[in-house]
Amino acid sequence: MTKYAIADVKARWILDSRANPTVETELRTEGGTVAVAAVPSGASKGEFEALELRDGESAFHGLGVKKAVDNVNSIIGPKVKGMDVREQKQIDDTMIALDGTPNKSKLGANAVLSVSLAVARAAALAQGMQLHEWISKLYHRKPLLPVPFSNVLNGGEHAGNDLSIQEFMVVPVGLKTFHEALQAVSEIYVSLRSYVTKRYGAVAKNVGDEGGVAPPMGNTQEALSALESAITDAGYSNGKEIRLAIDAASSTFFINGKYKIDGRLLTKEELMDYWKQVIAAHKIMSIEDPFEQNDFETTAKFTAQVKPLQVVGDDIFVTQIARLKRGIDVGACNALLLKVNQVGSLTEAVDAGLLAIKSGYSVMVSHRSGETTDDFIADLAVGLGTGQIKTGAPARGERVAKYNRLLKIEDDTGIPYAGPSIASKS
Ligand code: PGA
Ligand code: ZN
Repeated sequence: MTKYAIADVKARWILDSRANPTVETELRTEGGTVAVAAVPSGASKGEFEALELRDGESAFHGLGVKKAVDNVNSIIGPKVKGMDVREQKQIDDTMIALDGTPNKSKLGANAVLSVSLAVARAAALAQGMQLHEWISKLYHRKPLLPVPFSNVLNGGEHAGNDLSIQEFMVVPVGLKTFHEALQAVSEIYVSLRSYVTKRYGAVAKNVGDEGGVAPPMGNTQEALSALESAITDAGYSNGKEIRLAIDAASSTFFINGKYKIDGRLLTKEELMDYWKQVIAAHKIMSIEDPFEQNDFETTAKFTAQVKPLQVVGDDIFVTQIARLKRGIDVGACNALLLKVNQVGSLTEAVDAGLLAIKSGYSVMVSHRSGETTDDFIADLAVGLGTGQIKTGAPARGERVAKYNRLLKIEDDTGIPYAGPSIASKS
């Protein structure tokens, strides 16, 4: 037994940012290292995501995670006991084999992922390393402080307004450091809050699931104009230090073969024209899930036509190699949204990220709309050097935890900010 051997694994339920239970795992090594990790949960989930195991009983409106917690405590824990926490792949592969299903439906992706993340964190701690250092060493990647794609205005399934598009983001590509970038995001967010409060009344101060303001708007144009005013009010300019990005999450408004957006029903061809107009009018640099998750063909056509715009695949790829390969083959999207819980283990999520990078795709590490204060993804984005992170508005503790972790990493290390490299691509 070495000090890196797993001595004990214990899971419990904790709450996520939407008051629903989620799994937290505490892992102890023989050397006395203790690491804790918690899993997030989405609302606008992709159809092909790994299965989040929920009890389906009356407790927590069916969303209890008792089974997932038990699976960690009585099945996964005993199996990985004695394994070396530095052997991430071996441990993840062991859990994948133990589950034996293609979508982790037996043990639950939430159960498996909580252990997988705790293993990585324990390995870093036991070796006296920061988590991002360990990730960068493990996957042979050069670290970078990521550009935050900050979702300052929420719509879709994350808000109680009539906006079809789920996320309206500001992207501080033109700033020199992460500190300056986050300052800009904060200043724009506060300007935006007063802009919408003036126009829509105090109700506009309410925030959505990812901390962005959620004013009673029903039109894309209105939302993007609000962002542009806020950028100017805060002393920046759209197209210079700041760019705009959207996550359409279009599967959520794809109804009976048409897209319901801004009070209209559009065919995929009409939606494609609409996106082109919006992108040109607002200097948008990145769009996520512009077409529904099964439409690789239209997504590919669009990606080719709007070059060099960043087209990010979230629900279409669900951080899974097989779907990403299909996308790469046909040229659907040119960036991968990397969400660890869509596939359910660190190894598989990073494998998808590395394949994307090898294939010339960009990678944006992402939170979920249901989050905890676990800041794992901040270190993941830095360690993998993806250059991009999506972690909500600079408001609400579970979002701010990631931003503050990134501030500390920049403060403690000489790792460069990715802004200029992203700006030159867009
Ligand atoms: P979700 O949304 O976490 O609710 O799935 C995030 C996203 O679509 O990027
Ligand atoms: Zn998305």
